[in-house]
Amino acid sequence: MILGVISAMTEELELLLKDMSIQEETKKANMTFYRGTLENKNIIAVVCGIGKVNAAICTQILISEYNVSSIINVGVAGGIGKNIYPGDVVVGKDLVQHDMDTTVFGDPHGQIPRLDTFDFKCNDILVKAALSACEEIKEINTFSGRIVSGDQFISSIEKIQWFEKEFNAIACEMEGASIAHVCYLNNIPCVVIRSISDNANNGAHMDYEKFIPIAVRNSTIILKSMLEKL
Ligand code: ADE
Repeated sequence: MILGVISAMTEELELLLKDMSIQEETKKANMTFYRGTLENKNIIAVVCGIGKVNAAICTQILISEYNVSSIINVGVAGGIGKNIYPGDVVVGKDLVQHDMDTTVFGDPHGQIPRLDTFDFKCNDILVKAALSACEEIKEINTFSGRIVSGDQFISSIEKIQWFEKEFNAIACEMEGASIAHVCYLNNIPCVVIRSISDNANNGAHMDYEKFIPIAVRNSTIILKSMLEKL
């Protein structure tokens, strides 16, 4: 079993990399792939850069060149809904690209045209392992549900209300759905674990700066504890 671990930003992966025993570093597509072990698991960890294109390229490299058996995406997200706060953890059940719009042809918002699925589901076993790790760590509040992704940093109440109404989403970010999309096309199991850095509202960019350290700490705690269970 080789697990691919993807984060969009260096800050999101650095705690994990500190604990990992790294055997090899390789650069491809301007991304550094770290091969090593953590919690006795073979891991390829990589910072893919922000946005769906970077995330998709990185996911395909992990699958085609590193033969990973599963992919875990960890990082931060904007929380949607009034009960979700910075530091809380969201385990994705499924993912949708909120900025895909071919509604003029009769498709629902988010539908990738001509694809046989609307949402990209996370793998049950990986979701269960993540949620069971969350259950054990009582001081971190956990949610599980739909995460939406798009090439936009969301800082608008209207937009998050639309995400709730249109997609029933509980968090938004900028990579997860494209990682899950590439995994779907390659039939590779994946899960997205995100910790909330902001509430995607008007002050989101300020909360984001403030809460990123705690959000990264919490998503890394959950990931490490989940690795022990796999
Ligand atoms: N990642 C963390 N916060 C976010 C937000 N508000 N919008 C998009 N991606 C995010």
